[in-house]
Amino acid sequence: MKRVFLIVMDSLGIGEEPDAALFGDRDCNTLKRISGSDKFRFSSMRDMGVGNIDGQSYLPAAKKPLAAVARLRERSMGKDTTIGHWEIAGVVSQSPLPTYPDGFPPEVIAEFEEATGRKVLCNKPYSGTEVIKDYGEEHMKTGALIVYTSADSVFQIAAHEDVVPLEQLYGYCRTARKILKGKHAVGRVIARPFIGEPGSFTRTANRHDFSLLPPKETLLDALEKDGKTVYAVGKINDIFAGRGVTKHVMTHGNTEGMAVALGALDEEFEGLCFVNLVDFDMLYGHRQDVDGYAAAFAEFDNWLPSFTSKMKADDMLIITADHGCDPGDSHTDHSREYVPCIVYGKNVKPVNLGTRSGFCDIAATVAEYLGSGFKGDGQSFLSDIIKPTAEEKALCEAAYEAMHSSYSPYSGFTVGAAVLTKSGKIYKGCNIENAAYSPSVCAERTAVFKAVSEGEREFAMLAVCGGKGGKLKGLCPPCGVCRQVIREFCPDGFPVLLMKSKTTFVKKTISELLPYSFSPDNLSEDK
Ligand code: THU
Repeated sequence: MKRVFLIVMDSLGIGEEPDAALFGDRDCNTLKRISGSDKFRFSSMRDMGVGNIDGQSYLPAAKKPLAAVARLRERSMGKDTTIGHWEIAGVVSQSPLPTYPDGFPPEVIAEFEEATGRKVLCNKPYSGTEVIKDYGEEHMKTGALIVYTSADSVFQIAAHEDVVPLEQLYGYCRTARKILKGKHAVGRVIARPFIGEPGSFTRTANRHDFSLLPPKETLLDALEKDGKTVYAVGKINDIFAGRGVTKHVMTHGNTEGMAVALGALDEEFEGLCFVNLVDFDMLYGHRQDVDGYAAAFAEFDNWLPSFTSKMKADDMLIITADHGCDPGDSHTDHSREYVPCIVYGKNVKPVNLGTRSGFCDIAATVAEYLGSGFKGDGQSFLSDIIKPTAEEKALCEAAYEAMHSSYSPYSGFTVGAAVLTKSGKIYKGCNIENAAYSPSVCAERTAVFKAVSEGEREFAMLAVCGGKGGKLKGLCPPCGVCRQVIREFCPDGFPVLLMKSKTTFVKKTISELLPYSFSPDNLSEDK
């Protein structure tokens, strides 16, 4: 039962992206910044290979890293939580979510006032605690709503619980959500209720977020459709407006998030457990608290072995981030940074994938690992990191061996194939050319025909490799005729291993290689 645990260390960037200046960021590297603190601890994350990631040479590298690692560049034009997580889930956003450093435009406010029948106070970026201090009394006297924003894409409505009952406040938020569309599609509308008397107002725990829906299908939607579990921990459920989530737990901070993730390891499910650890960003990044951030990182570093030691054979752990928030740079806002991607599991090879373009590669990889057809905007790197099973290994070795029997005096292009039967037997084949050219036959057909002529009808997998003069350079995908022959004997989901080397391959299904195929089904009586 395959499970992926995807943990977002919120804002743990690892260095400015090439276009950081466009976002007002320069010389930012969240991880590097906190690595200078006395509170920093780099032990299990070092063992994973975080110091081996591109651009992290200020950290000690692991001689034998335990995880596959990569540095990921953000393809979306943004540096906020929502867009970062959407990209991790496979959706690239062309423009950032709108922010309002000068408050919301008059037409938005007018529409909101008309729809709610209440006036608006403030309408500026403001601190949440200050805004109720400064406008709370007037709000209580007049019933006008306190609307404010921040550096993030948020429309926040503060109201006293005795003046505006909670349900009514939530209703106003839904109204705002309907108004804030198109170019004003803010990431979140947030209800910020408070209680108390002037001079001693306090916010209550009844805060509620009304998030923008992701603009297209995400990994979460696809997994839910496939009947898999999508377990959201922390603010993940809000970020996706609940879409594609089958189960969720809200958490209060990193410590609880890590405890819930650990607990999820004991649960029986197939699918994704998607965790956000928000303290890095909320408590330390924005507040420019380098030591606090470093201590939170140390807590995670210390916790990690307790998690990895409990992982089962088919579990995959991916640790990443959604943007940066360098606590030592010139502003309190997020920073446009690369993020780390650390993939650990018993069947994951510890390779360094270098720098890749797109957080969305994570979604493509998770989807492929969990057997979903979802691609999103990214490219899967699964075939680069996954250790082959014993069967896959044996089959690839057989195909490689068969290639050396190739009879190809005319093209010089040697091809080997091997097909595994359901009963566990392997049949090998090579390409066999002919002076008259047209009677030549491909390696895949040789292997399949050999097996069929021995009475075999049920197959489990096929591997193929080829190249000039017995050397593999890139893939050797089956030709159209061979695809048709494979399809004759093999169902839609039948795996074909397109070998990159003797031991590595890209795994495709026959229906991916031959969509809308003509098969024995088409000739059956009831068609
Ligand atoms: N070949 C195969 O064996 N399998 C394929 O699917 C593609 C092509 C062989 C046929 C020929 O001998 C040589 O590669 C060059 O086309």
